Amino acid sequence: MDKRQAQLEQLEQLRKEAQLGGGADRIAAQHKRGKLTARERLDVLLDEGSFRELDMLVRHRSRGFGLEKNKPLGDGVVTGTGTIDGRVVCVFSQDFTVFGGSLSEAHAEKICKIMDLAMKIGAPVIGLNDSGGARIQEGVVSLGGYADVFLRNTLASGVIPQISVILGPCAGGAVYSPAITDFVFMTRGSSYMFVTGPEVVKTVTHEEVTLEELGGADTHASRSGVAHYAAENEVECLLAVRRMLNFVPSNNRDDAPKLPTEDPRERTSDKLDTIVPENPNKPYDMLEVIAEIVDEGDFMEMHADFAPNIIVGFATLDGKPVGIVANQPAQLAGVLDIASSVKGARFVRFCDAFNIPLVVFEDVPGFLPGTDQEWRGIIRHGAKLLYAFCEATVPKITVITRKAYGGAYDVMNSKHIRGDFNFAWPSAEIAVMGAKGAVEILHRKQIKNADNKDEIIKQLEEEYNTTFCNPYIAAERGYIDDVILPRNTRLRLIEALDILETKVDSNPAKKHGNIPL
Ligand code: HXC
Repeated sequence: MDKRQAQLEQLEQLRKEAQLGGGADRIAAQHKRGKLTARERLDVLLDEGSFRELDMLVRHRSRGFGLEKNKPLGDGVVTGTGTIDGRVVCVFSQDFTVFGGSLSEAHAEKICKIMDLAMKIGAPVIGLNDSGGARIQEGVVSLGGYADVFLRNTLASGVIPQISVILGPCAGGAVYSPAITDFVFMTRGSSYMFVTGPEVVKTVTHEEVTLEELGGADTHASRSGVAHYAAENEVECLLAVRRMLNFVPSNNRDDAPKLPTEDPRERTSDKLDTIVPENPNKPYDMLEVIAEIVDEGDFMEMHADFAPNIIVGFATLDGKPVGIVANQPAQLAGVLDIASSVKGARFVRFCDAFNIPLVVFEDVPGFLPGTDQEWRGIIRHGAKLLYAFCEATVPKITVITRKAYGGAYDVMNSKHIRGDFNFAWPSAEIAVMGAKGAVEILHRKQIKNADNKDEIIKQLEEEYNTTFCNPYIAAERGYIDDVILPRNTRLRLIEALDILETKVDSNPAKKHGNIPL
């Protein structure tokens, strides 16, 4: 064999070795658990044939524990670039077949390198996590590696979108990288996140809890709010990431690309004219309102199972991506509580950081009363949503479909906090509080002294409703820009977004604000 031929074969040999990761047996074990390998996952995530691997030939530099004789190529993480619907993304995918995907110095360096590249070129970073955590044999060097990643996550926040997909274990301090990123996707039954596992929990708090209960996808998607998306399996999960990226620009200097749509701009919806029930205490489904308005009824809801009394997610209007924030009257009457405020605030800040216009659908009776909420800090947490809307300088449009009461009126992107276009449907009720509460406070003495209490209350409530519970007092003052026919909402939003295309607004120069955390 001549020298050149031998060189080519050597490279081929190295590549084959790297592809095998921790070996055929461990790959089989991974498959047996219903999990894909690190590379198979990238095949699902990225456009076919687009992946270009970097650092395939990296090996760890550890000594001791027999490691000098066990130096697999790639060191437990596959990194590189690829495209999603033609747009460049940077990826890392931890390989559980190599030392359980644990993070060594070299492994961390590979992740940092691809993140640094993503920052330079302005591309999203998608991390596929499947790891036993810090490489135990490397000790503090591995902890340092994690900190290097955390720092980059923080510096990249608001510059490039960062998405974490949890497809296996993600435990201990390792959870804090996904936690800093913008969106966390998980799979049911095969992914879990916790600071300490079930065994430690049992020792410390004497609680008996399974892996899934403590830190599975449903737990984090519905109870803790750590996960924004829970999928049935890995393929569904990775395809959901692809879908979400359609709505998101590659970096904070870019706009999200327009998506093709067949849905006519002028399409009206008669259903919307009657969707709000006459009885103000009767719920309706705001998801139906959204589906009637957005292109092809296609709404990608995020954080769907956490605080469902507020809805957040992405859609397009005449092809333009928007972030939607909506109260959900079908859940807790659409009230704002701690969880919904935090959920809404984080989404608003994501959209604002990445130039995604905000469209708000409002039907909110106010903030949730009670000692539980007060003592856990509804003041502090509700302020997050207020702060986020106040601070946002992207195009901001509100449609009040029914209730806009009390402080919640101000918070939900009102005119006063730089809402650009604030529309109301004729069914809107904009007031300090609802008729029942208002009448009780304003007419306490009169009611107390009356013989026919029920009749008086009914009459006073009707008077209050006629005077206050409509959109026209707000419209008289210009707090509402226009009262619109519900059926025309789609076109009015599209026109408003067109007008706001050239919007320029900014906040005072500062190092950073101090959002109430
Ligand atoms: C080195 C590790 C490892 C680790 C797993 N492996 N975790 N090697 N460092 N952290 C290796 C195993 O030795 C094994 O090697 C292979 O990966 C697969 O592991 P198994 O235990 O056989 O797999 P499984 O039964 O599926 O269990 C997976 C697991 C378990 C639950 C993740 O391995 C485990 O508990 N690992 C330790 C988790 C942990 O405590 N990590 C530190 C957390 S603290 P072989 O050669 O046998 O195939 C942390 C701090 C981060 O990460 C700090 C940031 C600030």
